[in-house]
Amino acid sequence: MSDSNKDTDLHVEADEKHLLLDHTYDGIQELNHPLPKWWNFLFYAGIVYGFGYWTYYTFLGGPTLVDEMKEDLVVIRQAQQEYKRLTEAFKPDIYAQWNKPEHSQRGLEVFEENCLQCHAEKGKGDVGPNLSDDYWLLTDGSAESNYKVVYYGSEENGMPAWGEVLASEEIYLALSYLESIKNTFQPDGKEPQGEKIGQE
Ligand code: HEC
Repeated sequence: MSDSNKDTDLHVEADEKHLLLDHTYDGIQELNHPLPKWWNFLFYAGIVYGFGYWTYYTFLGGPTLVDEMKEDLVVIRQAQQEYKRLTEAFKPDIYAQWNKPEHSQRGLEVFEENCLQCHAEKGKGDVGPNLSDDYWLLTDGSAESNYKVVYYGSEENGMPAWGEVLASEEIYLALSYLESIKNTFQPDGKEPQGEKIGQE
């Protein structure tokens, strides 16, 4: 045994001597390289953390994935509503962009395709009120207040909501057309409804 120990001693570096384990198998000696401290620390910390995690989510009422999803959904819905509020609002600058003579033909087309059937030619009124006079039922005749009625409609009284039907620019084009016919008092127009709004 002492002979073979000598053989293996050759392979043990001087500074590793203290790592030699106290046994020899058929002349084979073993060094003990302990795991680094940081590795052990992570290992035990992982066990402690895992135990805490399991206890929290299993016994202490920690939120489930479904709970967390519901919380996320609340945030998402708020953001969607905010987005909707911003996109649905009347935007004077966009209106100004479409309320120009070069777009008046398209405004007329939007009106003829979607509004004519009820508001009649030049908005003189039929099923829907006269839009060529200075009486207004639901609005004050301004583009901004007309926008709300056109966007959301007045469906219980037969005015459809166009917000989801027409493209945003088509709504602004229609409003621009309304601006061009209001106070033009078309002949054989429907009788005035609502309140008289003074000319701006
Ligand atoms: C199916 C029939 C119908 C169609 C189509 C229709 N409207 Fe109307 N509209 C109405 C009725 C009815 C009212 C009155 C609603 C009420 O009394 O609450 C109205 C009201 C309005 C008003 C408010 C008038 C006021 O005096 O306050 C505006 C503005 C208007 N419509 C614009 C439009 C535009 C623009 C379109 C096309 C994009 C359109 N409407 C298409 C039936 C219609």
